[in-house]
Amino acid sequence: MTAQSFSPGLDGVVATDSTVSWLDEENEQIVIRGYDLIELARNLNYVDVAYLVMYGDLPDAESADSFCAALKTGADVPGDVYRLLESMPKDTSVMDALRTGVSYLAGHVGPGLLADTSREANSAKGTSLLAQGPVIAANAYRALHDLPIVEPDPGLGYAENFLYMLSGERPDAEALEVFDRILICYIEHEMPNSTFVARVIASTLSDIYGAIAGGVASLKGPLHGGANEAAIAMMLEIQEQGGPSRAEPYVMEKLANRERIMGFGHRVYMRKHDPRALFLADYIDRLAPRIPEGRDLAQIYRTVEHVMEREKGLFPNTDYPIALLFYLLGIPVPLYTPVFLCSRIAGLVAHVVEQHEDNRLFRPRLVYEGATGLTPPDAPISAG
Ligand code: COA
Repeated sequence: MTAQSFSPGLDGVVATDSTVSWLDEENEQIVIRGYDLIELARNLNYVDVAYLVMYGDLPDAESADSFCAALKTGADVPGDVYRLLESMPKDTSVMDALRTGVSYLAGHVGPGLLADTSREANSAKGTSLLAQGPVIAANAYRALHDLPIVEPDPGLGYAENFLYMLSGERPDAEALEVFDRILICYIEHEMPNSTFVARVIASTLSDIYGAIAGGVASLKGPLHGGANEAAIAMMLEIQEQGGPSRAEPYVMEKLANRERIMGFGHRVYMRKHDPRALFLADYIDRLAPRIPEGRDLAQIYRTVEHVMEREKGLFPNTDYPIALLFYLLGIPVPLYTPVFLCSRIAGLVAHVVEQHEDNRLFRPRLVYEGATGLTPPDAPISAG
């Protein structure tokens, strides 16, 4: 293995072929099963797009009905899952609760189905996980904050139910529209770290629950899905330190200290626009009047964006507008990354299905830079 074939962070490395999605950098477009993601977000709802991502085609009316029905049935999680969430230490993060919940659910599947890596079995288990994700995320937050459990309401659609479980109240039409579009924007994005992790795990023929649990752990990090929580923390800090006029000096100080501004930059779109961020930014002014400090935060948002473009030539990634939109919608900050993950379950499932169907074990090499040729002592050193 030579240093010539080594790309740190696998930058620019093609890890697999796929028919799920592709970042068309040249046209600044996210292609999902042949469609432009932004057009899907404009025209369809999350459940339609989840079906497309997981099954390869848009549903006809009959398949859409049975998918909705499966999501409603799947959301009926076993009672012991709620007890598990209630038993967790109160300092547990919602992402860790979600990761634990996904692992725990594997025990409810039965060993035969759990080990079945066929497309049909993975799609069925994946549909259940897609339904269960919001129930676990919302109720993990509630249990960790001593709020009563809110079970899903089978009378509500997927996104409406998600918002209902988050807040305990039925959302208004504006909140529902924006939230559904955000879920679509988060649904699938080619080969980010979490998708790679899920495929790597699946490539050992480990089951879909393990692959998705690995994806949850990956997505939690602030360089990946955790960036939305970090981005709103920054905007709130600027507001606390003086409001919009503080935004420019704040960013300049961070950059001078070589710190990162979360919600900017992207491995693939570095110095290009993320189409999801462009699309979602339009909703900020519309939602800003929903809270008293909304207009200030919108101004901070724009100033930080302007300074980052001027100083670094970097543009917002999707986590930047979504962080503010979630805040304007009143979603508790510790749920931002979990909501991202719940949406992304559809994409992760599609990749695990694909990996299992045409599998080759991922097993790369490394460039060894350690010592060679050392001789060990001829007797143990420790008591063992
Ligand atoms: N703030 C400040 N500078 C940034 C930056 C950011 N958010 N993102 C990248 N840069 C700069 C780096 O400092 C580096 O500059 P240099 O060449 O002068 O040292 C250059 O851009 C390349 O960054 P690098 O970390 O090598 O690129 P990467 O492809 O490994 O990183 C990210 C990609 C996403 C990890 C990176 O852009 C980042 O940390 N963004 C913030 C976290 C975030 O929003 N994550 C969500 C991604 S969807």
